Amino acid sequence: MNKFKGNKVVLIGNGMVGSSYAFSLVNQGIADELSIIDLDTNKVKGDVADLNHCVAYSPSPIRINAGTYEDCKDADLIVICAGAAQKPGETRLDLVAKNTNIFKGIVDEVMKTGFDGIFLIATNPVDVLSYAVMKLSGLPKERVIGSGTILDSARLQYNISEIFNVAPSSVDANMLGEHGDSSLAHWSHANVAGKSVKEVLDNKDPNAAEEMFVKTRDAAYEIIEAKGSTYYGVAMGLARITKAIFSDENAVLTVSGYLEGEYGHDGVYTGIPAVINRNGIREIIEVALDEDEQKKFAHSVDVLKGFQAPIDE
Ligand code: 2OP
Repeated sequence: MNKFKGNKVVLIGNGMVGSSYAFSLVNQGIADELSIIDLDTNKVKGDVADLNHCVAYSPSPIRINAGTYEDCKDADLIVICAGAAQKPGETRLDLVAKNTNIFKGIVDEVMKTGFDGIFLIATNPVDVLSYAVMKLSGLPKERVIGSGTILDSARLQYNISEIFNVAPSSVDANMLGEHGDSSLAHWSHANVAGKSVKEVLDNKDPNAAEEMFVKTRDAAYEIIEAKGSTYYGVAMGLARITKAIFSDENAVLTVSGYLEGEYGHDGVYTGIPAVINRNGIREIIEVALDEDEQKKFAHSVDVLKGFQAPIDE
């Protein structure tokens, strides 16, 4: 099928994360066309019909179909949500070997079609798998984006918004580093209308900032314990990145991007603020980190490099 207009998404992996993302796209009118690929073709068939019944009430028209890898040929964006998800008690990094193998097959199939667009990766461990996709696809680093800490930042913004009684979108605060256990809160920068969040928290209780960080970092574990998996949060993060790409927005979002000297580190995908537009990652923004943050960031980079290493073998 020929491309409908200019904003075609191919979604690979139609589990809870993938299908929640598909619903966000339709609900927000972000894409013109969406092809869904999954081994469970029956579930795809059901979801495609269900999603097509949303279009009458969607903000803009969108064509949705059950896809094959052929659809990747003229896709603008391929979003990968396929792979094994964390079970209770597992960390994101426990999934690395299983999901790297799954990704080898997927990226190979995609690249055989001549795909020349942007990859957006959501599967965990997202930083390591973004690196794998860059290596396996041979695409330039700016066209392989991981969802990174976009969700962690949204969680931190929400937690801060509760204390300040302001909208989460009015909170300027980010989580950086691995989307996982070695992430860090960028406290030295976190502010609401210029007011330091860390100072306000410290004045309340000297442990408040650390407690909020732990609550943010470990949010996924609590959700997985309660309902088996997390999906709405990351789906909205993916939709936000998709909108930034298709609207050529130059929006600053915390995603997983490839460092080549930025923050003093090289050769690793990790969560950092970046400018996102129609070309993917326009640039990585280097914001000042204090000494403690630099150490934590360096530790997170070391952890990720350790897990990335087998991909180069
Ligand atoms: C999350 O943070 C599990 O990575 C997933 O919700």
